[in-house]
Amino acid sequence: MSEGAVNNTSGETDQENSTNSRRYFLIQATSAVGAVGAAGAAWPFIKYWTPSAKARAAGAPVKIDFSKLSPGEMLSPIVAWRGKPIFVVYRDQPSIDALETDSGGLADPDSTNPEQQPDFAVNPWRSERPEIGVYVGICTHLGCSPKYVETDNFENTGQGGFFCPCHGSKFDLAGRVVAGVPAPYNLEVPPYRFESDTVIVIG
Ligand code: FES
Repeated sequence: MSEGAVNNTSGETDQENSTNSRRYFLIQATSAVGAVGAAGAAWPFIKYWTPSAKARAAGAPVKIDFSKLSPGEMLSPIVAWRGKPIFVVYRDQPSIDALETDSGGLADPDSTNPEQQPDFAVNPWRSERPEIGVYVGICTHLGCSPKYVETDNFENTGQGGFFCPCHGSKFDLAGRVVAGVPAPYNLEVPPYRFESDTVIVIG
């Protein structure tokens, strides 16, 4: 067949076919090199983005079984999540009633600071279930760990609460800070969910 002869049903000549093949090859080769180059360039960042097993463990969710907790108690030993102590308290009915009615003397009784709790904890108990309170046990003043003060022994209120021995900040059983103390905010409520009636997952 002579040069330029038509050899297919689309009417292309041998020369046109050859040119098209070379163009196709060059496009494929350039794309492949580009992909390899991009992957190579991205590798340091991908390595950087991939957290180590230790880092994953440090930020991993933590399960807490509070099946042995009774009304009026705080869970002991205290479980840590992301290096922070997590307080789990089981409130009795008088304490729940008091949280719903006694908001006087508190700096932020309605939990208006969105940094201090998830949306589900914007209520008088600052928790998902009224009887179970879950708080980060770090004072919002300078980071000491408050003490749990059991029922009938907190500020003569007849209810429990948390007292920070470092500079005297006080929080009620929902972690709401008393007005006029050094701590500026309510205790933080971590993100959590109930996996069952007696197991919560933090994080
Ligand atoms: S650290 Fe708690 S009152 Fe200062």
